[in-house]
Amino acid sequence: MNFGVISIFPEIFLALNYGIVGRAIQQQLITLSYWNPRDFTQNKHRRVDDRPYGGGAGMVMTYQPLQAAMDAAKQHNPLAKVIYLSPQGKTLTQSLVTQLAVSSGFILLNGRYEGIDERFIDNMVDEEYSIGDYVISGGEFASLVFIDAVTRCIPGALGHEDSAVQDSFTGDRLDYPHYTRPEIIAGKSIPDVLKQGDHSAILRWRLKQSLGRTWQRRPDLLEKQRLTPEEKKWLDEFIAELTINSSTF
Ligand SMILES: C[S@@+](CC[C@H](N)C(=O)[O-])C[C@H]1O[C@@H](n2cnc3c(N)ncnc32)[C@H](O)[C@@H]1O
Repeated sequence: MNFGVISIFPEIFLALNYGIVGRAIQQQLITLSYWNPRDFTQNKHRRVDDRPYGGGAGMVMTYQPLQAAMDAAKQHNPLAKVIYLSPQGKTLTQSLVTQLAVSSGFILLNGRYEGIDERFIDNMVDEEYSIGDYVISGGEFASLVFIDAVTRCIPGALGHEDSAVQDSFTGDRLDYPHYTRPEIIAGKSIPDVLKQGDHSAILRWRLKQSLGRTWQRRPDLLEKQRLTPEEKKWLDEFIAELTINSSTF
Protein backbone atom coordinates (compact mmCIF):
# COMPACT_ATOMS: atom_id res chain seq x y z
CA MET A 1 0.00 0.00 0.00
CA ASN A 2 1.35 3.44 -0.90
CA PHE A 3 0.84 6.47 1.33
CA GLY A 4 1.49 9.68 -0.57
CA VAL A 5 2.00 12.53 1.88
CA ILE A 6 1.44 16.21 1.02
CA SER A 7 3.10 18.19 3.78
CA ILE A 8 5.32 21.20 4.34
CA PHE A 9 7.03 19.26 7.17
CA PRO A 10 7.89 15.84 5.68
CA GLU A 11 10.66 15.35 8.31
CA ILE A 12 7.96 14.65 10.89
CA PHE A 13 7.31 11.35 9.12
CA LEU A 14 10.77 10.05 10.08
CA ALA A 15 8.96 8.83 13.20
CA LEU A 16 7.48 6.08 11.04
CA ASN A 17 10.85 4.37 10.73
CA TYR A 18 10.42 2.76 14.14
CA GLY A 19 8.58 -0.29 15.48
CA ILE A 20 5.83 -2.06 13.58
CA VAL A 21 5.46 0.57 10.85
CA GLY A 22 9.25 0.69 10.37
CA ARG A 23 9.25 -3.07 9.86
CA ALA A 24 6.31 -2.83 7.42
CA ILE A 25 8.36 -0.32 5.41
CA GLN A 26 11.37 -2.66 5.39
CA GLN A 27 9.16 -5.57 4.29
CA GLN A 28 7.67 -3.29 1.59
CA LEU A 29 4.16 -3.90 2.89
CA ILE A 30 3.82 -0.13 2.71
CA THR A 31 5.67 2.59 0.81
CA LEU A 32 5.72 6.31 1.52
CA SER A 33 6.15 9.18 -0.96
CA TYR A 34 6.37 12.85 -0.03
CA TRP A 35 5.25 15.96 -1.88
CA ASN A 36 6.17 19.26 -0.26
CA PRO A 37 3.95 22.14 -1.47
CA ARG A 38 6.91 24.50 -0.91
CA ASP A 39 8.73 22.76 -3.77
CA PHE A 40 5.83 23.65 -6.08
CA THR A 41 5.40 27.35 -5.31
CA GLN A 42 5.59 29.99 -8.03
CA ASN A 43 6.70 32.89 -5.76
CA LYS A 44 10.29 33.69 -4.88
CA HIS A 45 9.78 33.36 -1.11
CA ARG A 46 8.25 29.86 -1.53
CA ARG A 47 5.20 30.95 0.44
CA VAL A 48 2.42 28.41 0.84
CA ASP A 49 0.03 30.57 2.90
CA ASP A 50 -1.80 33.87 2.69
CA ARG A 51 -4.13 36.05 4.77
CA PRO A 52 -7.76 34.98 5.07
CA TYR A 53 -10.44 36.81 3.09
CA GLY A 54 -12.73 38.59 5.54
CA GLY A 55 -9.86 39.20 7.98
CA GLY A 56 -9.26 37.51 11.30
CA ALA A 57 -6.42 35.61 12.92
CA GLY A 58 -4.10 33.14 11.24
CA MET A 59 -3.13 32.23 7.72
CA VAL A 60 -4.63 29.88 5.16
CA MET A 61 -2.80 27.42 2.86
CA THR A 62 -3.08 28.59 -0.73
CA TYR A 63 -4.50 26.62 -3.64
CA GLN A 64 -1.71 26.71 -6.25
CA PRO A 65 1.15 24.87 -4.48
CA LEU A 66 -1.27 22.31 -3.07
CA GLN A 67 -2.71 21.64 -6.52
CA ALA A 68 0.75 21.21 -8.06
CA ALA A 69 1.81 18.87 -5.24
CA MET A 70 -1.45 16.94 -5.63
CA ASP A 71 -0.92 16.56 -9.40
CA ALA A 72 2.51 15.06 -8.75
CA ALA A 73 1.13 12.73 -6.06
CA LYS A 74 -1.72 11.60 -8.33
CA GLN A 75 0.65 10.93 -11.18
CA HIS A 76 2.57 8.64 -8.83
CA ASN A 77 -0.54 6.80 -7.64
CA PRO A 78 -3.64 7.62 -9.76
CA LEU A 79 -5.92 5.22 -7.84
CA ALA A 80 -5.14 6.62 -4.39
CA LYS A 81 -7.97 8.06 -2.32
CA VAL A 82 -7.38 11.65 -1.24
CA ILE A 83 -7.78 12.07 2.51
CA TYR A 84 -7.73 15.41 4.32
CA LEU A 85 -6.85 15.03 7.98
CA SER A 86 -9.20 17.50 9.64
CA PRO A 87 -10.89 18.01 13.01
CA GLN A 88 -14.11 18.43 11.01
CA GLY A 89 -13.86 14.95 9.44
CA LYS A 90 -15.37 11.63 10.38
CA THR A 91 -13.71 10.29 13.53
CA LEU A 92 -11.39 7.33 12.92
CA THR A 93 -12.40 4.08 14.60
CA GLN A 94 -10.90 0.59 14.58
CA SER A 95 -13.62 -0.71 12.27
CA LEU A 96 -13.02 2.18 9.86
CA VAL A 97 -9.24 1.68 9.74
CA THR A 98 -9.76 -2.07 9.25
CA GLN A 99 -11.93 -1.34 6.20
CA LEU A 100 -9.42 1.20 4.88
CA ALA A 101 -6.56 -1.32 5.13
CA VAL A 102 -7.75 -3.09 1.96
CA SER A 103 -7.44 0.08 -0.15
CA SER A 104 -4.74 0.38 -2.79
CA GLY A 105 -3.36 3.61 -1.37
CA PHE A 106 -3.94 7.08 -0.01
CA ILE A 107 -2.81 10.64 -0.57
CA LEU A 108 -2.79 12.32 2.82
CA LEU A 109 -3.29 16.06 2.79
CA ASN A 110 -1.87 17.79 5.85
CA GLY A 111 -3.17 21.20 6.82
CA ARG A 112 -1.28 23.87 8.79
CA TYR A 113 -2.19 27.35 10.06
CA GLU A 114 -5.97 27.90 10.06
CA GLY A 115 -6.35 25.20 7.42
CA ILE A 116 -6.65 24.96 3.64
CA ASP A 117 -8.50 27.09 1.07
CA GLU A 118 -11.97 25.50 1.11
CA ARG A 119 -12.12 25.31 -2.69
CA PHE A 120 -9.20 22.89 -2.70
CA ILE A 121 -11.02 20.62 -0.26
CA ASP A 122 -14.19 20.80 -2.39
CA ASN A 123 -12.35 19.97 -5.61
CA MET A 124 -9.75 17.43 -4.56
CA VAL A 125 -10.63 15.63 -1.34
CA ASP A 126 -12.48 12.28 -1.26
CA GLU A 127 -12.80 11.92 2.53
CA GLU A 128 -12.03 13.95 5.66
CA TYR A 129 -10.93 12.06 8.78
CA SER A 130 -10.38 13.32 12.30
CA ILE A 131 -8.34 11.69 15.08
CA GLY A 132 -10.65 13.10 17.77
CA ASP A 133 -12.60 16.09 18.99
CA TYR A 134 -9.67 18.39 19.68
CA VAL A 135 -7.47 20.61 17.50
CA ILE A 136 -3.78 19.96 16.88
CA SER A 137 -1.35 22.25 15.06
CA GLY A 138 -0.98 20.27 11.87
CA GLY A 139 -2.29 17.32 9.93
CA GLU A 140 1.08 15.53 10.14
CA PHE A 141 0.45 14.13 13.62
CA ALA A 142 -2.98 12.93 12.55
CA SER A 143 -1.44 11.36 9.44
CA LEU A 144 1.07 9.49 11.61
CA VAL A 145 -1.85 8.06 13.59
CA PHE A 146 -3.71 7.21 10.37
CA ILE A 147 -0.70 5.45 8.78
CA ASP A 148 0.11 3.51 11.96
CA ALA A 149 -3.48 2.40 12.58
CA VAL A 150 -4.06 1.32 8.96
CA THR A 151 -0.67 -0.43 8.68
CA ARG A 152 -1.39 -2.56 11.77
CA CYS A 153 -4.41 -3.97 9.92
CA ILE A 154 -2.44 -5.05 6.84
CA PRO A 155 -1.88 -8.83 6.91
CA GLY A 156 1.72 -9.60 7.89
CA ALA A 157 2.39 -6.22 9.54
CA LEU A 158 2.13 -7.52 13.11
CA GLY A 159 4.67 -10.10 14.26
CA HIS A 160 1.97 -12.17 15.92
CA GLU A 161 -1.31 -12.14 13.99
CA ASP A 162 -3.39 -12.82 17.11
CA SER A 163 -2.25 -9.63 18.78
CA ALA A 164 -4.62 -7.58 16.60
CA VAL A 165 -7.55 -9.89 17.33
CA GLN A 166 -7.34 -9.26 21.08
CA ASP A 167 -6.66 -5.52 20.78
CA SER A 168 -9.12 -3.01 22.17
CA PHE A 169 -12.02 -2.13 19.83
CA THR A 170 -11.63 -5.27 17.74
CA GLY A 171 -15.08 -6.75 18.21
CA ASP A 172 -16.15 -3.67 20.20
CA ARG A 173 -14.40 -4.78 23.41
CA LEU A 174 -11.46 -3.46 25.38
CA ASP A 175 -8.37 -5.64 25.76
CA TYR A 176 -7.86 -7.73 28.95
CA PRO A 177 -5.06 -6.77 31.43
CA HIS A 178 -1.53 -8.00 30.71
CA TYR A 179 1.19 -9.04 33.18
CA THR A 180 4.85 -10.01 32.84
CA ARG A 181 7.75 -10.99 35.12
CA PRO A 182 8.42 -10.65 38.02
CA GLU A 183 5.50 -12.53 39.55
CA ILE A 184 5.29 -10.22 42.57
CA ILE A 185 5.99 -6.53 42.33
CA ALA A 186 5.36 -3.79 44.91
CA GLY A 187 3.43 -6.37 46.98
CA LYS A 188 1.07 -7.22 44.10
CA SER A 189 0.90 -10.69 42.63
CA ILE A 190 -0.44 -11.71 39.24
CA PRO A 191 -3.83 -13.52 39.06
CA ASP A 192 -3.40 -17.24 39.98
CA VAL A 193 -5.08 -18.49 36.82
CA LEU A 194 -2.23 -17.14 34.67
CA LYS A 195 0.32 -19.34 36.49
CA GLN A 196 -1.46 -22.65 36.25
CA GLY A 197 -0.97 -23.47 32.57
CA ASP A 198 -4.67 -24.30 32.00
CA HIS A 199 -5.13 -22.65 28.61
CA SER A 200 -8.90 -22.88 28.46
CA ALA A 201 -9.15 -21.37 31.97
CA ILE A 202 -6.79 -18.58 30.87
CA LEU A 203 -8.90 -17.94 27.77
CA ARG A 204 -12.09 -17.77 29.87
CA TRP A 205 -10.45 -15.42 32.37
CA ARG A 206 -9.25 -13.14 29.57
CA LEU A 207 -12.67 -13.02 27.91
CA LYS A 208 -14.27 -12.25 31.28
CA GLN A 209 -11.76 -9.45 31.97
CA SER A 210 -12.26 -8.04 28.50
CA LEU A 211 -16.03 -7.96 28.97
CA GLY A 212 -15.74 -6.58 32.51
CA ARG A 213 -13.34 -3.81 31.53
CA THR A 214 -15.58 -2.79 28.66
CA TRP A 215 -18.56 -2.71 31.06
CA GLN A 216 -16.55 -0.59 33.55
CA ARG A 217 -14.84 1.82 31.16
CA ARG A 218 -16.84 1.88 27.93
CA PRO A 219 -20.41 0.73 28.62
CA ASP A 220 -21.43 2.44 25.36
CA LEU A 221 -19.57 -0.30 23.44
CA LEU A 222 -21.46 -3.07 25.24
CA GLU A 223 -24.82 -1.45 24.57
CA LYS A 224 -24.29 -2.11 20.86
CA GLN A 225 -23.73 -5.85 21.38
CA ARG A 226 -25.87 -8.89 22.02
CA LEU A 227 -24.00 -11.04 24.57
CA THR A 228 -24.24 -14.82 24.44
CA PRO A 229 -25.65 -16.50 27.62
CA GLU A 230 -22.09 -17.56 28.48
CA GLU A 231 -20.77 -14.01 28.08
CA LYS A 232 -23.62 -12.71 30.27
CA LYS A 233 -22.61 -15.24 32.93
CA TRP A 234 -18.96 -14.13 32.79
CA LEU A 235 -19.96 -10.48 33.06
CA ASP A 236 -22.23 -11.25 36.06
CA GLU A 237 -19.32 -13.11 37.68
CA PHE A 238 -16.98 -10.16 37.00
CA ILE A 239 -19.44 -7.72 38.60
CA ALA A 240 -20.00 -10.03 41.59
CA GLU A 241 -16.22 -10.44 42.12
CA LEU A 242 -15.80 -6.68 41.91
CA THR A 243 -18.45 -6.18 44.60
CA ILE A 244 -16.80 -8.78 46.87
CA ASN A 245 -13.32 -7.26 46.37
CA SER A 246 -14.50 -3.70 47.03
CA SER A 247 -16.45 -4.74 50.18
CA THR A 248 -13.32 -6.39 51.69
CA PHE A 249 -11.60 -2.99 51.96
C1 LIG B 1 -4.74 24.43 13.67
S1 LIG B 1 -5.52 23.21 12.68
C2 LIG B 1 -6.81 24.13 11.89
C3 LIG B 1 -8.12 23.92 12.56
C4 LIG B 1 -9.28 24.61 11.85
N1 LIG B 1 -9.16 26.04 11.95
C5 LIG B 1 -10.58 24.18 12.50
O1 LIG B 1 -10.88 24.67 13.59
O2 LIG B 1 -11.28 23.29 11.95
C6 LIG B 1 -4.36 22.93 11.40
C7 LIG B 1 -4.46 21.55 10.74
O3 LIG B 1 -4.28 20.53 11.68
C8 LIG B 1 -4.97 19.37 11.27
N2 LIG B 1 -5.82 18.92 12.40
C9 LIG B 1 -6.11 19.62 13.52
N3 LIG B 1 -6.87 18.91 14.36
C10 LIG B 1 -7.07 17.72 13.78
C11 LIG B 1 -7.79 16.55 14.16
N4 LIG B 1 -8.47 16.48 15.31
N5 LIG B 1 -7.79 15.50 13.31
C12 LIG B 1 -7.12 15.56 12.14
N6 LIG B 1 -6.42 16.63 11.72
C13 LIG B 1 -6.39 17.71 12.53
C14 LIG B 1 -5.75 19.73 10.01
O4 LIG B 1 -5.04 19.24 8.89
C15 LIG B 1 -5.78 21.24 10.06
O5 LIG B 1 -5.86 21.82 8.78
